[in-house]
Amino acid sequence: MFYDIARRYMFSRDAEWAHEFALDNLRRFAHTPLSMAWSQSVADKPVNFLGLEFKNPVGLAAGLDKNAECIDAFSQMGFGFIEVGTVTPRPQAGNDKPRIFRLPQAHAIINRMGFNNKGVDNLVANVKAAKYDGILGINIGKNKDTPNEQGKDDYIHCMRKVFEHASYITVNISSPNTPGLRDLQYGDALDDLLQSLKNEQMDLIAKHSKSVPMLVKIAPDIDAVQVAQIAESLVKNRIDGVIATNTTLEREAVQGQQHAQEAGGLSGRPVREKSTFVVSELKRITEGKLPIIGVGGIDSAESAKEKLDAGASLLQVYTGFIYEGPALVKRIINGL
Ligand SMILES: Cc1cc2nc3c(=O)[nH]c(=O)nc-3n(C[C@H](O)[C@H](O)[C@H](O)COP(=O)(O)O)c2cc1C
Repeated sequence: MFYDIARRYMFSRDAEWAHEFALDNLRRFAHTPLSMAWSQSVADKPVNFLGLEFKNPVGLAAGLDKNAECIDAFSQMGFGFIEVGTVTPRPQAGNDKPRIFRLPQAHAIINRMGFNNKGVDNLVANVKAAKYDGILGINIGKNKDTPNEQGKDDYIHCMRKVFEHASYITVNISSPNTPGLRDLQYGDALDDLLQSLKNEQMDLIAKHSKSVPMLVKIAPDIDAVQVAQIAESLVKNRIDGVIATNTTLEREAVQGQQHAQEAGGLSGRPVREKSTFVVSELKRITEGKLPIIGVGGIDSAESAKEKLDAGASLLQVYTGFIYEGPALVKRIINGL
Protein backbone atom coordinates (compact mmCIF):
# COMPACT_ATOMS: atom_id res chain seq x y z
CA MET A 1 0.00 0.00 0.00
CA PHE A 2 2.67 2.47 1.08
CA TYR A 3 4.90 1.44 -1.79
CA ASP A 4 2.04 1.86 -4.30
CA ILE A 5 1.80 5.52 -3.35
CA ALA A 6 5.56 6.03 -3.14
CA ARG A 7 6.02 4.30 -6.50
CA ARG A 8 3.39 6.40 -8.22
CA TYR A 9 5.16 9.53 -7.02
CA MET A 10 8.65 8.32 -7.88
CA PHE A 11 7.67 6.95 -11.30
CA SER A 12 6.28 10.39 -12.19
CA ARG A 13 9.79 11.81 -11.77
CA ASP A 14 13.14 11.28 -13.46
CA ALA A 15 14.48 7.81 -12.64
CA GLU A 16 17.75 8.91 -11.07
CA TRP A 17 16.08 11.66 -9.10
CA ALA A 18 13.67 9.05 -7.72
CA HIS A 19 16.57 6.74 -6.88
CA GLU A 20 18.37 9.48 -4.94
CA PHE A 21 15.15 10.56 -3.25
CA ALA A 22 14.43 7.02 -2.08
CA LEU A 23 17.96 6.37 -0.80
CA ASP A 24 18.03 9.70 0.96
CA ASN A 25 14.83 8.92 2.86
CA LEU A 26 15.83 5.35 3.65
CA ARG A 27 19.08 6.61 5.12
CA ARG A 28 17.56 9.46 7.10
CA PHE A 29 14.63 7.59 8.57
CA ALA A 30 15.99 4.06 9.08
CA HIS A 31 16.26 4.58 12.81
CA THR A 32 13.04 6.53 13.32
CA PRO A 33 9.37 5.46 13.58
CA LEU A 34 8.98 6.34 9.87
CA SER A 35 10.88 3.15 9.06
CA MET A 36 7.55 1.41 9.74
CA ALA A 37 6.69 2.33 6.17
CA TRP A 38 9.06 -0.32 4.81
CA SER A 39 9.88 -2.60 7.75
CA GLN A 40 8.45 -6.09 7.63
CA SER A 41 9.16 -9.41 9.26
CA VAL A 42 9.57 -12.36 6.95
CA ALA A 43 9.63 -16.08 7.60
CA ASP A 44 12.95 -17.75 8.31
CA LYS A 45 14.12 -19.86 5.37
CA PRO A 46 17.74 -20.47 6.28
CA VAL A 47 20.30 -21.35 3.61
CA ASN A 48 23.89 -22.37 4.23
CA PHE A 49 26.07 -21.15 1.39
CA LEU A 50 29.86 -21.07 1.34
CA GLY A 51 29.92 -21.71 5.04
CA LEU A 52 27.74 -18.68 5.76
CA GLU A 53 24.30 -18.83 7.36
CA PHE A 54 21.73 -16.80 5.35
CA LYS A 55 18.37 -16.28 7.10
CA ASN A 56 16.59 -16.48 3.75
CA PRO A 57 17.70 -16.78 0.10
CA VAL A 58 16.50 -13.36 -1.16
CA GLY A 59 19.23 -10.74 -1.42
CA LEU A 60 19.52 -7.17 -2.65
CA ALA A 61 21.60 -7.05 -5.85
CA ALA A 62 24.58 -4.74 -6.31
CA GLY A 63 24.15 -1.25 -7.70
CA LEU A 64 21.18 -0.06 -5.69
CA ASP A 65 23.20 0.91 -2.62
CA LYS A 66 26.54 1.62 -4.27
CA ASN A 67 28.00 3.46 -1.28
CA ALA A 68 26.49 1.30 1.48
CA GLU A 69 24.44 4.20 2.83
CA CYS A 70 21.18 2.36 3.49
CA ILE A 71 22.17 -1.07 4.75
CA ASP A 72 20.03 -0.82 7.89
CA ALA A 73 16.91 0.19 5.95
CA PHE A 74 17.30 -2.69 3.47
CA SER A 75 17.78 -5.04 6.37
CA GLN A 76 14.47 -3.81 7.83
CA MET A 77 12.77 -4.94 4.61
CA GLY A 78 13.68 -8.55 5.40
CA PHE A 79 16.39 -9.23 2.83
CA GLY A 80 18.39 -12.35 3.67
CA PHE A 81 21.55 -10.61 2.52
CA ILE A 82 22.64 -7.30 1.07
CA GLU A 83 25.25 -6.62 -1.58
CA VAL A 84 26.65 -3.09 -1.73
CA GLY A 85 28.85 -1.49 -4.43
CA THR A 86 30.11 -1.63 -7.09
CA VAL A 87 32.81 0.39 -5.43
CA THR A 88 36.10 1.50 -7.00
CA PRO A 89 39.38 2.56 -5.37
CA ARG A 90 38.85 6.25 -6.11
CA PRO A 91 35.54 8.14 -6.20
CA GLN A 92 34.21 8.69 -9.71
CA ALA A 93 31.27 10.57 -11.19
CA GLY A 94 30.10 7.97 -13.69
CA ASN A 95 28.57 8.76 -17.07
CA ASP A 96 26.68 11.90 -18.02
CA LYS A 97 23.02 12.13 -17.03
CA PRO A 98 20.42 11.00 -17.95
CA ARG A 99 21.70 7.46 -17.46
CA ILE A 100 18.78 5.44 -16.03
CA PHE A 101 15.59 4.80 -17.99
CA ARG A 102 12.43 2.90 -17.06
CA LEU A 103 10.66 0.69 -19.59
CA PRO A 104 7.45 0.05 -17.63
CA GLN A 105 5.73 -1.99 -20.32
CA ALA A 106 8.54 -4.56 -20.06
CA HIS A 107 9.07 -4.18 -16.31
CA ALA A 108 12.62 -3.27 -17.22
CA ILE A 109 15.33 -0.67 -16.72
CA ILE A 110 18.20 0.44 -18.95
CA ASN A 111 21.14 1.96 -17.11
CA ARG A 112 24.55 3.28 -18.05
CA MET A 113 25.57 4.62 -14.66
CA GLY A 114 29.25 3.78 -15.14
CA PHE A 115 30.18 2.91 -11.54
CA ASN A 116 29.36 6.29 -10.02
CA ASN A 117 30.48 5.93 -6.42
CA LYS A 118 32.22 7.75 -3.58
CA GLY A 119 35.21 5.42 -3.42
CA VAL A 120 36.13 2.48 -1.24
CA ASP A 121 37.18 4.44 1.86
CA ASN A 122 33.79 6.10 2.04
CA LEU A 123 32.04 2.74 1.62
CA VAL A 124 34.04 1.16 4.43
CA ALA A 125 33.21 4.06 6.76
CA ASN A 126 29.50 3.60 6.00
CA VAL A 127 29.67 -0.15 6.59
CA LYS A 128 31.36 0.46 9.93
CA ALA A 129 28.67 2.95 10.94
CA ALA A 130 25.79 0.60 10.12
CA LYS A 131 24.10 -1.49 12.82
CA TYR A 132 23.41 -4.39 10.46
CA ASP A 133 25.00 -7.66 11.51
CA GLY A 134 23.68 -9.94 8.74
CA ILE A 135 25.38 -11.17 5.59
CA LEU A 136 26.99 -8.33 3.64
CA GLY A 137 28.48 -8.76 0.18
CA ILE A 138 30.80 -6.05 -1.09
CA ASN A 139 31.03 -5.74 -4.86
CA ILE A 140 34.29 -4.31 -6.23
CA GLY A 141 35.32 -2.88 -9.58
CA LYS A 142 37.99 -0.83 -11.27
CA ASN A 143 38.08 2.88 -11.98
CA LYS A 144 37.18 3.88 -15.53
CA ASP A 145 40.56 5.52 -16.14
CA THR A 146 42.53 2.49 -14.99
CA PRO A 147 43.63 0.53 -18.07
CA ASN A 148 42.57 -3.14 -18.12
CA GLU A 149 46.23 -4.22 -17.84
CA GLN A 150 46.34 -2.57 -14.41
CA GLY A 151 42.77 -3.52 -13.55
CA LYS A 152 43.86 -6.15 -11.10
CA ASP A 153 45.62 -3.54 -8.98
CA ASP A 154 42.26 -1.80 -8.52
CA TYR A 155 40.52 -5.04 -7.52
CA ILE A 156 43.34 -5.89 -5.11
CA HIS A 157 43.24 -2.40 -3.62
CA CYS A 158 39.50 -2.76 -2.95
CA MET A 159 39.87 -6.32 -1.66
CA ARG A 160 42.40 -5.23 0.94
CA LYS A 161 40.17 -2.36 2.08
CA VAL A 162 36.90 -4.29 2.33
CA PHE A 163 38.14 -7.72 3.41
CA GLU A 164 37.62 -7.26 7.14
CA HIS A 165 34.13 -5.83 6.66
CA ALA A 166 32.64 -8.21 4.08
CA SER A 167 30.89 -11.56 4.49
CA TYR A 168 31.79 -12.18 0.85
CA ILE A 169 33.42 -10.19 -1.93
CA THR A 170 32.10 -9.98 -5.50
CA VAL A 171 34.50 -9.28 -8.34
CA ASN A 172 32.49 -7.44 -10.97
CA ILE A 173 33.85 -7.99 -14.47
CA SER A 174 30.51 -7.81 -16.23
CA SER A 175 29.24 -4.25 -16.17
CA PRO A 176 28.62 -3.11 -19.76
CA ASN A 177 29.13 0.52 -18.76
CA THR A 178 32.86 0.60 -18.10
CA PRO A 179 34.52 0.40 -21.52
CA GLY A 180 36.49 -2.84 -21.94
CA LEU A 181 35.53 -4.30 -18.55
CA ARG A 182 33.81 -7.33 -20.03
CA ASP A 183 37.03 -8.24 -21.87
CA LEU A 184 38.25 -9.43 -18.47
CA GLN A 185 35.75 -12.30 -18.70
CA TYR A 186 37.67 -14.12 -21.41
CA GLY A 187 40.81 -16.16 -22.03
CA ASP A 188 44.16 -15.29 -20.53
CA ALA A 189 42.89 -11.96 -19.15
CA LEU A 190 40.41 -13.85 -16.96
CA ASP A 191 42.88 -16.51 -15.83
CA ASP A 192 45.50 -13.93 -15.04
CA LEU A 193 43.07 -11.78 -13.04
CA LEU A 194 41.56 -14.68 -11.11
CA GLN A 195 44.93 -16.16 -10.25
CA SER A 196 46.14 -12.86 -8.79
CA LEU A 197 42.94 -12.31 -6.87
CA LYS A 198 42.97 -15.85 -5.49
CA ASN A 199 46.53 -15.34 -4.25
CA GLU A 200 45.51 -12.08 -2.63
CA GLN A 201 42.49 -13.71 -1.01
CA MET A 202 44.69 -16.45 0.47
CA ASP A 203 47.11 -13.85 1.84
CA LEU A 204 44.26 -11.87 3.38
CA ILE A 205 42.71 -14.98 4.93
CA ALA A 206 46.04 -15.75 6.60
CA LYS A 207 46.56 -12.17 7.69
CA HIS A 208 43.12 -11.68 9.21
CA SER A 209 42.48 -15.29 10.31
CA LYS A 210 39.11 -14.87 8.64
CA SER A 211 37.77 -16.63 5.58
CA VAL A 212 35.92 -14.37 3.14
CA PRO A 213 34.59 -16.13 0.03
CA MET A 214 35.19 -14.50 -3.35
CA LEU A 215 32.57 -14.63 -6.09
CA VAL A 216 32.73 -13.45 -9.67
CA LYS A 217 29.78 -11.72 -11.33
CA ILE A 218 29.29 -12.49 -15.00
CA ALA A 219 27.28 -11.17 -17.95
CA PRO A 220 24.28 -12.81 -19.59
CA ASP A 221 25.52 -12.07 -23.12
CA ILE A 222 27.54 -15.26 -23.51
CA ASP A 223 26.85 -18.50 -25.36
CA ALA A 224 27.20 -22.02 -24.01
CA VAL A 225 30.84 -22.27 -25.15
CA GLN A 226 31.75 -19.06 -23.35
CA VAL A 227 29.92 -20.15 -20.20
CA ALA A 228 31.99 -23.35 -20.28
CA GLN A 229 35.24 -21.40 -20.70
CA ILE A 230 34.42 -19.05 -17.85
CA ALA A 231 33.31 -21.95 -15.62
CA GLU A 232 36.55 -23.77 -16.32
CA SER A 233 38.59 -20.75 -15.32
CA LEU A 234 36.56 -20.18 -12.14
CA VAL A 235 36.99 -23.79 -11.06
CA LYS A 236 40.68 -23.90 -12.01
CA ASN A 237 41.38 -20.80 -9.95
CA ARG A 238 39.32 -22.11 -7.01
CA ILE A 239 36.89 -19.19 -7.07
CA ASP A 240 34.29 -19.79 -4.36
CA GLY A 241 31.16 -18.98 -6.35
CA VAL A 242 29.55 -17.09 -9.20
CA ILE A 243 26.81 -14.48 -9.53
CA ALA A 244 24.81 -14.86 -12.72
CA THR A 245 24.00 -12.41 -14.16
CA ASN A 246 24.52 -8.73 -14.74
CA THR A 247 22.47 -6.69 -17.27
CA THR A 248 22.20 -7.48 -20.98
CA LEU A 249 23.16 -5.50 -24.07
CA GLU A 250 20.45 -7.19 -26.10
CA ARG A 251 17.31 -5.24 -26.98
CA GLU A 252 15.21 -7.75 -28.84
CA ALA A 253 12.61 -8.12 -26.11
CA VAL A 254 11.98 -4.36 -25.88
CA GLN A 255 12.12 -3.35 -29.53
CA GLY A 256 9.91 -0.41 -30.36
CA GLN A 257 9.45 0.65 -26.74
CA GLN A 258 10.39 4.10 -25.50
CA HIS A 259 14.07 4.24 -24.43
CA ALA A 260 14.79 0.81 -25.93
CA GLN A 261 17.64 2.25 -27.97
CA GLU A 262 19.39 3.96 -25.05
CA ALA A 263 22.93 2.66 -24.53
CA GLY A 264 23.58 0.62 -21.40
CA GLY A 265 22.53 -2.59 -19.70
CA LEU A 266 18.95 -3.83 -19.79
CA SER A 267 17.59 -5.48 -16.63
CA GLY A 268 14.30 -6.86 -15.35
CA ARG A 269 11.93 -9.22 -17.16
CA PRO A 270 13.74 -9.13 -20.53
CA VAL A 271 16.94 -10.55 -19.00
CA ARG A 272 15.23 -13.32 -17.04
CA GLU A 273 15.54 -16.09 -19.60
CA LYS A 274 19.15 -15.29 -20.50
CA SER A 275 20.20 -15.26 -16.84
CA THR A 276 18.43 -18.54 -16.18
CA PHE A 277 20.19 -20.06 -19.18
CA VAL A 278 23.60 -19.04 -17.79
CA VAL A 279 22.71 -20.41 -14.35
CA SER A 280 21.61 -23.75 -15.77
CA GLU A 281 24.67 -24.05 -18.01
CA LEU A 282 26.97 -23.25 -15.08
CA LYS A 283 25.30 -25.95 -13.04
CA ARG A 284 25.43 -28.50 -15.85
CA ILE A 285 29.05 -27.87 -16.76
CA THR A 286 30.35 -27.87 -13.20
CA GLU A 287 28.02 -30.72 -12.17
CA GLY A 288 26.63 -28.53 -9.45
CA LYS A 289 30.01 -28.00 -7.82
CA LEU A 290 30.21 -24.24 -8.27
CA PRO A 291 27.92 -22.35 -5.86
CA ILE A 292 25.65 -19.96 -7.78
CA ILE A 293 23.70 -16.82 -6.88
CA GLY A 294 20.98 -16.28 -9.49
CA VAL A 295 19.93 -12.76 -10.50
CA GLY A 296 18.09 -11.32 -13.49
CA GLY A 297 14.40 -10.67 -13.96
CA ILE A 298 13.20 -12.08 -10.64
CA ASP A 299 9.93 -10.34 -9.81
CA SER A 300 7.74 -13.11 -8.38
CA ALA A 301 7.93 -16.40 -6.50
CA GLU A 302 7.59 -18.20 -9.81
CA SER A 303 10.58 -16.47 -11.42
CA ALA A 304 12.53 -17.00 -8.19
CA LYS A 305 11.80 -20.73 -8.30
CA GLU A 306 12.94 -20.84 -11.90
CA LYS A 307 16.43 -19.67 -10.87
CA LEU A 308 16.56 -22.13 -7.96
CA ASP A 309 15.45 -24.99 -10.22
CA ALA A 310 18.13 -23.99 -12.72
CA GLY A 311 20.81 -24.40 -10.05
CA ALA A 312 21.05 -21.23 -7.99
CA SER A 313 21.28 -21.57 -4.20
CA LEU A 314 20.57 -17.90 -3.49
CA LEU A 315 18.77 -15.10 -5.35
CA GLN A 316 19.15 -11.38 -5.80
CA VAL A 317 16.71 -8.74 -7.00
CA TYR A 318 17.07 -5.24 -8.34
CA THR A 319 14.63 -4.24 -11.08
CA GLY A 320 11.79 -6.41 -9.74
CA PHE A 321 12.26 -4.66 -6.41
CA ILE A 322 11.93 -1.23 -8.08
CA TYR A 323 8.63 -2.27 -9.67
CA GLU A 324 7.19 -4.29 -6.76
CA GLY A 325 8.74 -2.74 -3.65
CA PRO A 326 9.63 -4.47 -0.38
CA ALA A 327 6.54 -6.72 -0.61
CA LEU A 328 8.41 -8.66 -3.29
CA VAL A 329 10.85 -10.01 -0.70
CA LYS A 330 8.00 -11.41 1.39
CA ARG A 331 6.09 -12.69 -1.62
CA ILE A 332 9.08 -14.67 -2.84
CA ILE A 333 9.90 -16.11 0.56
CA ASN A 334 6.29 -17.14 1.19
CA GLY A 335 6.01 -18.63 -2.29
CA LEU A 336 9.08 -20.83 -2.14
C1 LIG B 1 20.47 1.07 -12.14
C2 LIG B 1 21.27 -0.18 -12.00
C3 LIG B 1 22.58 -0.13 -11.51
C4 LIG B 1 23.32 -1.30 -11.37
N1 LIG B 1 24.59 -1.21 -10.87
C5 LIG B 1 25.31 -2.35 -10.67
C6 LIG B 1 26.60 -2.31 -10.08
O1 LIG B 1 27.09 -1.25 -9.69
N2 LIG B 1 27.27 -3.47 -9.93
C7 LIG B 1 26.75 -4.68 -10.31
O2 LIG B 1 27.41 -5.71 -10.14
N3 LIG B 1 25.52 -4.76 -10.86
C8 LIG B 1 24.80 -3.64 -11.05
N4 LIG B 1 23.55 -3.72 -11.59
C9 LIG B 1 23.04 -5.03 -12.04
C10 LIG B 1 22.15 -5.71 -11.01
O3 LIG B 1 22.84 -5.96 -9.81
C11 LIG B 1 21.60 -7.04 -11.57
O4 LIG B 1 22.69 -7.94 -11.78
C12 LIG B 1 20.87 -6.88 -12.89
O5 LIG B 1 20.13 -5.68 -12.91
C13 LIG B 1 19.90 -8.04 -13.16
O6 LIG B 1 18.97 -8.19 -12.12
P1 LIG B 1 17.48 -7.55 -12.16
O7 LIG B 1 16.84 -8.01 -13.44
O8 LIG B 1 16.80 -8.07 -10.92
O9 LIG B 1 17.65 -6.08 -12.14
C14 LIG B 1 22.78 -2.56 -11.74
C15 LIG B 1 21.46 -2.62 -12.23
C16 LIG B 1 20.70 -1.45 -12.36
C17 LIG B 1 19.29 -1.55 -12.89
